[in-house]
Amino acid sequence: MTAAIIGVGMTRFGRDLEHQLPELAFKAIDEALRDAGVSKEDIGFIAFGNVGGWSGEFFPLPIVCEYAGLNPRGGMRVEAACASGSAALAAACMAVESGYADIALAVGAERMNELASTPAIVELLGRGGNFFWEFEMLGLTFPAYYALFARAYMDEYGATEEDLAKIAVKNHYYGSMNPKAQFQKKITIEDVLNSRYVAWPLKLYDCSPITDGAAAAVVASERIASRLTDTPIWVKSQGIATAPANLTMRRDLLSIESVVEAARQAYRKARIEDPVKSLDLALVHDCFTIAEIIAYEDLGFARRGGGYLLAREEQTYIGGLIPVNTDGGLKAKGHPIAASGLAMIYEAVKQLRQEVDRGRQAPIKHGQALIHNVGGTGHFAYVTILSLEKP
Ligand code: COA
Repeated sequence: MTAAIIGVGMTRFGRDLEHQLPELAFKAIDEALRDAGVSKEDIGFIAFGNVGGWSGEFFPLPIVCEYAGLNPRGGMRVEAACASGSAALAAACMAVESGYADIALAVGAERMNELASTPAIVELLGRGGNFFWEFEMLGLTFPAYYALFARAYMDEYGATEEDLAKIAVKNHYYGSMNPKAQFQKKITIEDVLNSRYVAWPLKLYDCSPITDGAAAAVVASERIASRLTDTPIWVKSQGIATAPANLTMRRDLLSIESVVEAARQAYRKARIEDPVKSLDLALVHDCFTIAEIIAYEDLGFARRGGGYLLAREEQTYIGGLIPVNTDGGLKAKGHPIAASGLAMIYEAVKQLRQEVDRGRQAPIKHGQALIHNVGGTGHFAYVTILSLEKP
């Protein structure tokens, strides 16, 4: 059995303390239901991605269901760190494919700014690495982890800070055209290079920001999807993998093992041999600029050590080898942890349906898009292939 996405919704990402978490989630749910042309009574199951910890609210799903009028449907909160949105999509697909529900909702929401200050947020996120050995003993935070990856990559392959900056410039360029992005301003290489260091060699513009937001997708069974829409977006495959939390257990810092495995699964199930020749675009998890470059290699868009050359040669703009992060990526669109995976799904669905504004619309020739969503420093990886063609 196969599942299809028949509706998507997301809030404008940014700093949003005007809306409580259930209100943010509701806005995304409401847009997704309208897009799908179904009502809340049609929903048989809800998978809610949320990492939380930003507020005193300990069990947010019941509050979200109550506010959205979704009671008494069954549901669960799912958590796979920054990949929680993709995990919610996986749970919704499983609910539909198992026959538990005809239509399910995948939602991701986060209100990060509820926590008072950047240091408090960075500390909370830092606990998501390896708490005992790396957070408590070494004090590693996420910018610091990715700075280690960047340093190792630059030393090994000769990439420069300008190469990293190219990723930020591209993603801000597409963010400038995305009305739902947190940052809608183009930047230059000089802006990136002159921004302050956060964790050397990563600077302010190498980092994704702290964001509030929500995104949602309506998932339907094959029978229902074909009845409700002419353009169901099929979930052709999902590769899911984990890897050691502790960096000392990793083979190297230049690749994320869980991504390589998740991509292998996703490509095998979707019968993709050469991703660059089979995909129209990719949404990749650029929590830091170096992460996008390593993703190019782990996903097979470039050879090992060649990812930064794709950035240098601007091959991941529309018109290049493969367009990447046409929505601005986490870098410019924003990164409200559990909402990010579903926001990537939102963009992929809109792109495949060719509903994106000119300038940001990728040419759709193969009818396939890839979503790469990483949790922690590679603790979890989800690689999803969406397709216009029924698998
Ligand atoms: N990129 C570009 N601009 C940013 C930015 C970013 N990542 N973060 C903040 N800004 C802007 C703000 O909009 C603000 O602009 P303004 O002065 O014009 O209003 C200015 O920079 C200062 O913002 P502020 O919130 O004070 O920055 P900060 O120093 O408190 O936080 C970071 C910056 C990079 C430390 C923070 O965004 C961060 O920790 N990011 C990483 C989050 C993370 O680890 N996520 C999980 C990844 S797996």
